Amino acid sequence: PVVVAGDAAGKADTLEALRAAIDSYEMCDLKLGARNTVFADGKPAARVMIIGEAPGREEDQKGLPFVGRAGQLLDKMFGAIGLSRQSPDAEAALYITNVLPWRPPGNRDPSPAEIAQMLPFLARHVDLADPDLIVLMGNAACAAALGKRGILRLRGTWAEAFGRPTLPMTHPAYLLRNPAAKREAWADLLQIRARLDQA
Ligand code: URA
Repeated sequence: PVVVAGDAAGKADTLEALRAAIDSYEMCDLKLGARNTVFADGKPAARVMIIGEAPGREEDQKGLPFVGRAGQLLDKMFGAIGLSRQSPDAEAALYITNVLPWRPPGNRDPSPAEIAQMLPFLARHVDLADPDLIVLMGNAACAAALGKRGILRLRGTWAEAFGRPTLPMTHPAYLLRNPAAKREAWADLLQIRARLDQA
């Protein structure tokens, strides 16, 4: 399946073609239980690309990433450093996707096999969107992009993934359950702001 996904991803030379390639990819069982393929939201020209985990119930219903409670917190967090998925201005915009385009049943964690299977699509997605920097939201995004887990250890330290500067952060769903961790998330957001202002 990995080879097949790699072929399909490699042939897509626009974001719309990639969306269509994912939509017609039949080798991942998650697709069977999903209502929608969740591809992305925001502005592809944005300097910052956020990679989350997978659609939840609301995302599956609406076909858009991060539209539930975690998404509202994500919008608030990035709004505080002047970035929004609604902004028409690439400087102030966000582009948002997930490791997996389909909701895992019952919102279970994505399996390592599912992450590996869909990784060629994610890598192609990053190449086509061509962001200046990437934010990895939580363990699944770190597993996909860095091949590492341990978000509480990884967060706040820049790494390189897909050939770009990449900052792991705790997932907003984690922050909803652990509000005390918002302090560290705020420090991470300031690092993103500082890096954008530098370059
Ligand atoms: N959590 C994610 O990681 N992605 C979404 O799109 C929604 C919730």
